[in-house]
Amino acid sequence: MLSNSGVDELFIYQDMRRGMKRKLFIVFVALFLTLLFFLALSDRGTTRLYKELETLRFNFSRLLGDCETVPRKPDLPVIYAITPTYARPVQKAELTRLSHTFRLVPALHWIIVEDASKPSALVGKLVNKSGIPHTILTAPTPKEWKLREKDPNWKKPRGVLQRNRALQWLRENLKPKDKAVIYFADDDNVYSLELFDEMRWTKGVSVWPVGLVGGLLVERPILNPKTGRVTGWNAAWRPERPFPIDMAGFAISAPLLLSRPNAKFSLTSDRGFQESHLLQALTTRDKLEPRADRCTKVYVWHTRTESPKLNAELARRKAKKNMNDEIEV
Ligand SMILES: *[C@@H]1O[C@H](CO)[C@@H](O)[C@H](O)[C@H]1NC(C)=O
Ligand SMILES: *[C@@H]1O[C@H](CO)[C@@H](O)[C@H](O)[C@H]1NC(C)=O
Repeated sequence: MLSNSGVDELFIYQDMRRGMKRKLFIVFVALFLTLLFFLALSDRGTTRLYKELETLRFNFSRLLGDCETVPRKPDLPVIYAITPTYARPVQKAELTRLSHTFRLVPALHWIIVEDASKPSALVGKLVNKSGIPHTILTAPTPKEWKLREKDPNWKKPRGVLQRNRALQWLRENLKPKDKAVIYFADDDNVYSLELFDEMRWTKGVSVWPVGLVGGLLVERPILNPKTGRVTGWNAAWRPERPFPIDMAGFAISAPLLLSRPNAKFSLTSDRGFQESHLLQALTTRDKLEPRADRCTKVYVWHTRTESPKLNAELARRKAKKNMNDEIEV
């Protein structure tokens, strides 16, 4: 049994419920509309985003295509860069720097010649990783021709057999009509990218200045201002050499090299005469092709890396303690 007040309470209660239902309904509708509104908005956003992604993807693939065509230009003469190298504490550092330069040069083939009886893992891995087209050769220097630890570095000819090994490989692998250029790129020099554009179209032998060599800021060919031909050099050290020029200061066209089967380096050349020995077999002074803005620009420097002092390392090796054998440096 319900009392009067109880019936009143029931009516009030039912009224409240009806009111709440209405409110809830309004809230639901509002929420639904808001949801619809945001859905519509985000749909437009997605469509826009999707379109942008599409153009990005298109742009990216086009860019990728451009990147791939740079090294593959079929009409660019290939530069064969010959680098003699030997195992030493700074070897990996030097070759890393050089490989990072070469990675920026299109149509370059790197010929590395190790002064060793078999190829080393260090050089192989480094060159593989670089992605540069390459050939690894070996040519061990006989003991009697090796520099001893205390010898000054000019005492014995360096890199002779390694460079000759590379020349032999080129003669075996190039055809007389191949458009190609040969350059001796030691691993301790610094090369500016313009240098490779300058040498690429060499017809016979091209020449240019080399910085920081022969006791001078720059050693360079002197040109006749009228004819633009090489008449001499500004060299201070042994200027009587037939070609007083550094190994980094010239490039040779492949057809010329192949037409002179006897052109190579010699173990018995006098100090500083390696370049002259080779060039005399290939050309004459008046035929040289000056590059680098009529030999007024320096694009290569004969830098030298200081030998690191490793006394502490050697002491630890002697004691057979804390050697850094497990890490490639
Ligand atoms: C795609 O490239 C075009 C033309 O180069 C440029 O206008 C556009 O902004 C690029 N779009 C994107 C998403 O990178
Ligand atoms: C370098 O790559 C070549 C070809 O993939 C492979 O045969 C060779 O073993 C690699 N050399 C090293 C030292 O990893």
